[in-house]
This record gives sequence, structure tokens and C-alpha cells, in this order.
Amino acid sequence: MTTIFDKLQPLAATRQALLERGADFFNTVMERIISPTEAVVDGRRTILAGTNNYLGLTFDPDCMDAACQAVRESGTGTTGSRMANGTFAGHVALERELADFYGCRSAIVFSTGYVANLGMLSGLTGPGDVILIDSDCHASIYDGCRLSGAEVIRFRHNDPSDLNKRLHRLDERAANALIVVEGIYSMLGDRAPLAGLTAVKDDYGAYLFVDEAHSLGVIGDHGRGLAEEAGVEERVDFIVGTFSKSLGAIGGFCVSNHPELDLVRYASRPYIFTASPSPSIIASTRTALKILRTRPELRTRLWNNAHRLYQRLTEMGFLLGPEPSPIVSVRLQGKEDALAHWKKLLERGVYVNLVLPPATPDGGALLRCSMSAAHTPEQVDTICEAFASLREAAGSAQQPEAGLSS
Ligand SMILES: Cc1ncc(COP(=O)(O)O)c(C=O)c1O
Repeated sequence: MTTIFDKLQPLAATRQALLERGADFFNTVMERIISPTEAVVDGRRTILAGTNNYLGLTFDPDCMDAACQAVRESGTGTTGSRMANGTFAGHVALERELADFYGCRSAIVFSTGYVANLGMLSGLTGPGDVILIDSDCHASIYDGCRLSGAEVIRFRHNDPSDLNKRLHRLDERAANALIVVEGIYSMLGDRAPLAGLTAVKDDYGAYLFVDEAHSLGVIGDHGRGLAEEAGVEERVDFIVGTFSKSLGAIGGFCVSNHPELDLVRYASRPYIFTASPSPSIIASTRTALKILRTRPELRTRLWNNAHRLYQRLTEMGFLLGPEPSPIVSVRLQGKEDALAHWKKLLERGVYVNLVLPPATPDGGALLRCSMSAAHTPEQVDTICEAFASLREAAGSAQQPEAGLSS
């Protein structure tokens, strides 16, 4: 007889095989957090080079004070959904501040960025509707599409002409289609060609939804993300983002000029059936948003670090994502190389994210680094030296390594 656990058995075997390589690759414990860029891992002081802490705000004194004060004033949690006792004055104020930041009519705050995508996609679309998504979109977008029950069509990554072809085939349904892309893509750090995509969507009168999870606070003159940088904010229908990256907390949001946005609250199960973000989260996020708006030097520092790492790893011959970005992913052909390199980096006191298929865009493996404004130049140098040691080890073994470009 089969059991509900049978399908987990292959995972047990895979996990065991990984453990036999001498590390618990996907359960690394941060034993003590020292700062936005350092933790104790395996008893060793380790540089964190895989967080999404782009502006380094997790230890910002003003954000921490705001969070502590909110706990004292309003308690540790809301114990209710936005619809049932979980909307506090802070949630409403943050929605106003987000709408103001984007120059949009309104905003909705969700419990996480994942939930924002689930909530928006399932609240906006349903059976009979069509969603066109970039094939490299994040899992939360795929899951939101599934929850919606809409027809889902994938188009080739960052390819407006493929999008055009697929919209063309939809005939009159194209005018009501929802196109979903990301600002900066989370795996390789590449930007969406937003000018080209908006031109295509305008041709058909379709709707455009941009997930700026990795671009909020990172690009655009005011830090609003790729739509700002590309000068197309007016033509984007929905912008989604998260508080868990540049803003250093947890939560998600959507902003839009469509007056119907407010109605999505009533149609969105992920908005209705989960507890709202706690007062401390809302308070630190509001403070972080103020900092994002008033301290552009953090973005400058972030980009200095990003360029430094991208350039140094390129010079060493590593194969990276297509453009410099705070996400600097080293692309490797083989899973074995990725596991061995990841472990060596950790032993040298550098933690990066290990990404294996099927989570990678092209079936390869990634050592995904991400930079923070809080990294010091010395820390970036240490990260580079750790990668250089992989290069040296490959050289001394006198064999070309898969994924290291020649
Ligand atoms: C593009 C994108 N959207 C949404 C999310 C989900 O955000 P959160 O972790 O805040 O739930 C992520 C998380 O990594 C992401 O990369």
C-alpha cells in the first residue's frame, strides 16, 4: 500500500547524499547574528554574502528603536487578519506612505512578499483570464497563478518579441491579459527590458504587473525600482514588492493607480486568511522606507560593492550573470563543483547561497552572492579572496573546472 510519505522518500535519499558530503547545505544555522553582514556559523565568524539585506538596515538603530517602541505600545502581534481586527493604524499609515512614495492612488500591505504575489494574482484574475509570465519568474508568481485558476502562458525570459507573439495568438483576449515580470531577477540579477515590454503591452492594451522585490531601494533615482529607472512608471498597472529585502523586515505590498485595487482586498484569500504583520514589523518598515527615501548614499555604497565584486570575479574568470547587479551569481555547470565550492567558501568564513536545479534558470548550479550597503570594502575583498582560492585550487588540480570560463 502506498502512503502519503512515499513521495518524500526520494528527497530523503537526496538529503542523505548531501549530508555525506560533509555539510547540511540547506539547513545552515546562523548561530549568532553579529551585524547585517556577519554571523557565527559552525562556531566561526562568517561574512554573510547571500542575504537580501541590500541597504543593510536590519540593525539600523532607528528601525530597531521603532520596532521596540511598537512592541511596548501595541504588543507582539495583531493575532488577526487584515479583515478581522488585524488592521492597526500603522498598517493604514504604511499603505499611505507606500502610495505616496510611488505617487500612486493606493497601496495594500500583505503579510509577506510571497503572500503579496499570491494575493494579488489570485485577487485580480480567475478562471477564464490569461496571465503571461516571464519564464524566470519567482515561485511566488507561479504559485499565485496556480491559485488564481487563470490560464497561464510562459514567454521566453526577457524577450518582448516572444511576448508579442503570444499576445498576438490570443486575439481579442490579449486586451484583458495580465503580463507579469520582475524588475531585477532574483537568480542572475538581470533587469527586465521594461521599455520593450511596456511597448508590447501598450500595443494590445494588456495590463502589466512588475514584482520589484529585488529592485526596490536598489535602482531608480529615488529607489523606486526598475519602472522608475526605465521611465515607465505611468504605464505599469501594478507594482508589487517586499519588506524582506531592502527594508530589512518581512511583509509585502502592491501599489496601483487603478481604483479597483482596494476591492482586491475582498477577493484575495491570501489577504483575508492570514494574520497581518505585527506592529514591530510595520514600525521598522515605515522607518526603513523613510531611510530609503532620505539616504541615497546607501544605494551608492551598495552599487560600489556590487561593481567591485562583479568586476573582481569577472577578472578571475568566473562566469557570472549578464550584467553587474547587487546579485552576483557564479554560474557552474555541475552540481558537484557547486557543492564543493560552497563548502570551501564556508570554511573560509564566507556564506553564499547555493542554488541547485530545478531552482536555477538554466539547469546549471549557482553560487549566488548578494551585496549590501553595509559590506565594507575589506569584507568584499575577503569574499573575493575566498573565490580566488577556489580558482587556485582548480589551477593546482591542473584541470579546467566546469563553469569557470577560460
Ligand atoms: C521576485 C520575488 N518575489 C517575491 C519574493 C517573496 O518575498 P518574501 O520573501 O518577502 O516573501 C521573493 C523572495 O525571494 C522574490 O525573489
